[in-house]
Amino acid sequence: MAGGSVFGRNFTVSTFGESHGKAIGCVIDGCPAGLKLSEEDLIPYMDRRRPGQSEFATARSESDTPEILSGVFEGTTTGTPIAILIKNSDQHSSDYSNIADVFRPGHADYTYHEKYSIRDYRGGGRSSGRETAARVAAGAVAAKLLSSFGISAKAYTRSIGPVIISSYDEAEANDLNMPDHDAYLKASEYIRALREKGDSAGGVIECVIKGVTPGLGDPVFDKLDALLAHAVMSIGAVKGFEIGDGFEASLSSGSANNDPFTGDGNGNINKSSNHSGGILGGISDGSDIIFRCAVKPTPSISMSQKTTDTKGNERDIIIQGRHDPVIVPRACVVVESMADLVIADAMLSRPADRLKDITDIFRK
Ligand SMILES: Cc1cc2nc3c(=O)[nH]c(=O)nc-3n(C[C@H](O)[C@H](O)[C@H](O)COP(=O)(O)O)c2cc1C
Repeated sequence: MAGGSVFGRNFTVSTFGESHGKAIGCVIDGCPAGLKLSEEDLIPYMDRRRPGQSEFATARSESDTPEILSGVFEGTTTGTPIAILIKNSDQHSSDYSNIADVFRPGHADYTYHEKYSIRDYRGGGRSSGRETAARVAAGAVAAKLLSSFGISAKAYTRSIGPVIISSYDEAEANDLNMPDHDAYLKASEYIRALREKGDSAGGVIECVIKGVTPGLGDPVFDKLDALLAHAVMSIGAVKGFEIGDGFEASLSSGSANNDPFTGDGNGNINKSSNHSGGILGGISDGSDIIFRCAVKPTPSISMSQKTTDTKGNERDIIIQGRHDPVIVPRACVVVESMADLVIADAMLSRPADRLKDITDIFRK
């Protein structure tokens, strides 16, 4: 779609707004009527993305308070567009005046300049990680819808730099969203050492979606894994995506990689392993859907870097302002939100898959 700010086919979301403009927000269309929804449902999700909450997140204090402007009447969705507004409050536009005519390495400054010849340079404008607050608000609505069907997505930090989790401890709560305490301690040291030098770290986010029944997703171009890849790769700083065993599958053999089916003779069919990551032929197979994405190190670093200005004069740049030394922990909920949006979207087209289901809806 022209402009590139709309996602989805049945449960559609468009986001708007720039980092240092008046507000950001989203409009959701296609959310069924009858869902109980209030701002309180959104706040826990917004809080997980909000900066300023940990040693490893920027001190910017974005308030991230979502206001539902439409589409909800007396606490219930009406089936009409749900507009959600998040006002921008902590805008230090002066932090960015020194980069107005300079391209920050690793950012979208140069490509926006080439594409549009005008850009809101304050905080990256539309390319800012702040845009993802609007996705999280939309994702929270999708999550609420999915929860009524027993579907939930959970994303966490699998690795930071070379430090990979070796176990999954549900109860472990830390500011890197890393479910392995030893890995958390090592990753913290790794980030601190880079931050000391004015540098930054990257990592991998893993997401597990539970409760999806077989049959979600469409063949060919709109495969469920293709839509998840699209959704997740559209998040700033995400540079890789894999489903199930992903790139590791290329090192395996057919006999090891195929997931054997098991059954009880009463129509209940399962798989005894899940190398596929819960999707076969672009369609959910009933196992947990598991995917991972690679997140690059935060591009804004306080070390001096080589670049040019808009005229091509070579310059040294030192980026001011407040930036996360690692994006991964705050991006987990963004990944989860995009997964929720994809599943909600796919779910809403499911009733049209079989004539029998359509007949059940329309039979008088
Ligand atoms: C939740 C989130 C927060 C982010 N915060 C920052 C940040 O504080 N500083 C920064 O330089 N980049 C940040 N980014 C990444 C940039 O927005 C992104 O790298 C940049 O727009 C270039 O896009 P690309 O990396 O996808 O090519 C963040 C991204 C996300 C998803």
